Amino acid sequence: MKIGLLTSGGDCAGLNAVMRGFGKTIYTLDKGAELYGITDGYAGLVNGEWRKMDRDEFSGILTLGGTILGTSRLPYKKLITEGADKIDAMKANYKKMGLDALVVLGGNGTHKTAALLSKEGLNVVGLPKTIDNDIWGTDMTFGFYSAVDVATECIDRLATTAASHRRTMVIEIMGNKTGWLTLYAGVAAGADVILIPEIPFDLDKVVEAVAKRTERKKAFCIVAAAEGAIDKREAALDKKERERRKAAAGGLNASARIAAAVSERLQNETRVVVPGHIQRGGGPSPLDRALCTEMGVYAARLVYEKRFGVTVATTGGALTANRLADIAGKTKFVPAEHELVRAARSVGVSFGD
Ligand code: F6P
Repeated sequence: MKIGLLTSGGDCAGLNAVMRGFGKTIYTLDKGAELYGITDGYAGLVNGEWRKMDRDEFSGILTLGGTILGTSRLPYKKLITEGADKIDAMKANYKKMGLDALVVLGGNGTHKTAALLSKEGLNVVGLPKTIDNDIWGTDMTFGFYSAVDVATECIDRLATTAASHRRTMVIEIMGNKTGWLTLYAGVAAGADVILIPEIPFDLDKVVEAVAKRTERKKAFCIVAAAEGAIDKREAALDKKERERRKAAAGGLNASARIAAAVSERLQNETRVVVPGHIQRGGGPSPLDRALCTEMGVYAARLVYEKRFGVTVATTGGALTANRLADIAGKTKFVPAEHELVRAARSVGVSFGD
């Protein structure tokens, strides 16, 4: 079998670990297997950039961060609006390489394109990558555990300096549409206020929660706000109007606005910290290494058994395959009544609502 591999969209820890699991397994299952690494995601498939990957390439990369193939974003919307050109180019290169299957590691955007290619007749298998953990149909995406570890450590470190200076620290955690990472890291590090896009906040309530906390003996406060946290008034607007207003107000995310309000209304010394892409960098955590290995191996079995048009998922601790057509275009949001949200509320965390 000839198989193409690509990593697409924003990177995360664990991409190489998944490819290792896949490569080692497929080379064992299929003695005649040939693997081709496609450079920089779908861009490499459009532009015809790939290289042969021997078995050796899949050794020594379990703990390596980033992706040995490179990645890029090729938005789905552009694929559509620019006509069938790019899809045609991908189909032509798939044929030119003589592929029997294409394995794509990526997030929601990657899966949309994967579903499209599958509909066009290509044999595609997906693997769910993202620090956002927001792919529909899987309990866990790889890269998430590692990012939770990094974000948690960032908050732990902020807590000690916040306590020394009696400050309020607002940490902005990645996650534009969904708040899984902020929720898990926030709870794990004992944040006092957790703000996620799925639970719009009321600024007065956030300031109130900070005041309640700083008035007590422990006169410091940690606010963990997702990149995409929004207040209730913004949430009531349509997306375009929301973006227009945000741009007009200097493009500031909620974290900056919250810090300004806390410092102005409570005269509390406040700092904003944005760890940003540090949350995506570095090697995978032990839990991710295990998950990546399981998922990569499972994908190899799917390909070997010619079960195409699917993506790997975990549900209730077991590995499974979801149809690309069923999950593409959907987002797994944090349910407002999620067990961890309820647990956080029980221990006194404010969601600013
Ligand atoms: O999807 C992963 C993610 O890290 C989001 O949490 C974040 O909003 C976005 O990617 C950042 O993207 P970029 O790499 O383009 O800055």
